[in-house]
Amino acid sequence: MVVTAQLERHQNSVHMVPEAGHKGAPTMQEINTVADAWRNLPATDLDATTLAKSRIVGHLSAGEAHHFDMMRTRVLQQMRRNGWRRLAITSPTAGCGKSTVAVNLALSLRRQAELRSVLLDCDLRRPSLARMLGIADDMDLGGCLRGDHDFAARARRIGSTLAISASKDPALDAGEVFGGRYLPRALAAIEDGLAPDVMIFDTPPILLTHDMMSFASHVDCVLLVAGAEMTSVKEIDLCERELAAQTNVMGVVFNKCRHIGDGYGYDTYD
Ligand SMILES: Nc1ncnc2c1ncn2[C@@H]1O[C@H](COP(=O)(O)OP(=O)(O)OP(=O)(O)O)[C@@H](O)[C@H]1O
Ligand SMILES: [Mg+2]
Repeated sequence: MVVTAQLERHQNSVHMVPEAGHKGAPTMQEINTVADAWRNLPATDLDATTLAKSRIVGHLSAGEAHHFDMMRTRVLQQMRRNGWRRLAITSPTAGCGKSTVAVNLALSLRRQAELRSVLLDCDLRRPSLARMLGIADDMDLGGCLRGDHDFAARARRIGSTLAISASKDPALDAGEVFGGRYLPRALAAIEDGLAPDVMIFDTPPILLTHDMMSFASHVDCVLLVAGAEMTSVKEIDLCERELAAQTNVMGVVFNKCRHIGDGYGYDTYD
């Protein structure tokens, strides 16, 4: 796996992000409030067999997980350097591996000591993270983003440092949710409550609906997942240009590369 650093290309066409640490050091009371918020999230366990079926390896500290550990290192370096917290994982078309990359990266981040992450299934029309992780219950991210209920009411905690919210059912009003006035408040409320170092958003494909382009301006940066033998260079270029008008494109993850050996790898797109 190599994430192509293409920041220089996009640095002049992006929205501003806050300077790292601009809020100043948190008070003891703020630290305790955040710790309580994490403790109060209902915990859930992950089942190894379910994860294996979904090609999830990021929780392991050996083998194929190293692809995601390398990705984690590069992503964290860029995010910290730029003071970014919100990372969207997207792709030109469906099935390139967005959700697989998002979950694996989140679980790899979870193994990083003292780093808090939030993983959100923002592919509201085709949610998949609950199934991939084997969490079958009342999680309802769509409702949270609409303002129907608080994040904590329908989210789950994996271990002590990864929070997740997803949806069981497709949301027919996804377009309205992404274009809705409540969305920025919902995201800010999650950030204020849990103070995550990283928020990962699994998102819809760019070229099939307008959802991702409505959502792109709400994130600090994006990883574009291209499927080997699925995604054309033209599609990558088009998506990069569209995204760069709204956010920072960190790089392209080239997924499902057979020539890497095990059919489960990532490569550089130049
Ligand atoms: N590196 C890989 N090697 C082989 N198969 C993979 C790889 N990454 C993902 N897959 C498989 O490809 C399929 C699509 O993956 P995934 O659901 O992550 O894609 P997606 O981009 O999120 O799709 P959608 O647009 O439908 O949400 C799944 O069956 C997944 O297990
Ligand atoms: Mg998906």
